Amino acid sequence: MNDWWRSFFDGDYLRIAKQVFRQENSTEQATALWSMLDLWPGCRVLDAPCGWGRLSRPLAQLGATVLGVDQSETLLAAADAERGDVPAERLRYLRHDLRTPLPETDFDVACNIFTSFGYGMEEEDRDLFRTLCRAVRVGGRVLVETSHRDLLCSSLARARSSAMRLADGTIFLDEPEFDPIAGVVALNWYWSGPGGSGEKRASWRCYTPTEIVRLLESVGLRFVAAYKGLSKVAYTAEGTEPPGRLTVVAVRQE
Ligand SMILES: C[S@@+](CC[C@H](N)C(=O)[O-])C[C@H]1O[C@@H](n2cnc3c(N)ncnc32)[C@H](O)[C@@H]1O
Repeated sequence: MNDWWRSFFDGDYLRIAKQVFRQENSTEQATALWSMLDLWPGCRVLDAPCGWGRLSRPLAQLGATVLGVDQSETLLAAADAERGDVPAERLRYLRHDLRTPLPETDFDVACNIFTSFGYGMEEEDRDLFRTLCRAVRVGGRVLVETSHRDLLCSSLARARSSAMRLADGTIFLDEPEFDPIAGVVALNWYWSGPGGSGEKRASWRCYTPTEIVRLLESVGLRFVAAYKGLSKVAYTAEGTEPPGRLTVVAVRQE
């Protein structure tokens, strides 16, 4: 499945994902991010990829100057339509393939949130992180928030699939198939409800936390800390419960 993501992030994705990630949750996440990174009014934030701007907009409302970057025309159009009263000097969007360098640099922080890498070969992930590393100033930080292989394996040990009812009544089912040798999961999404029914396939290369840190280090970033999700709680993998999502913060060296 090559470059599946070019068509995956369309109107159906937007309708489903907006119900999974309601704006209240996104605003809470943006506030958590602000506090985790000790951001300040006027700081320059790169949200890459930004999807439909669910975090770019609240970050700009909190006082950052934000550039949201994504490849999906549909999601960027939704982001721009929902900018509200945030002026263009504070919040801009750019359509760009993050595997290639950005035309703008000197950001204080670059964020890659909600499992936004692992969509192709390892080399493509390295290219994406190299783009983020070069976009921040020396001493600037890159934050990556993601699911990971340890979480996937402990979740799969409990259930082979997951189903939920979305706010509009749609039944949504994911039946992932994991290839532990390739380290790649095939995501199989099915849904049916008032907005119609359909299915989608995606492929996600799921790294361990160790591998994620190595990837970041391989492009010139120095590991700073790992947290449980978007919180200030240090990441640990103890106990019988699934370890939770991972956030890694790394800093540009030179
Ligand atoms: C799971 S979504 C997350 C978006 C956003 N970070 C959020 O939290 O909602 C992943 C996004 O990555 C974008 N994407 C995937 N590959 C990309 C690439 N090579 N360049 C730019 N955007 C890409 C997709 O269009 C999609 O919007």
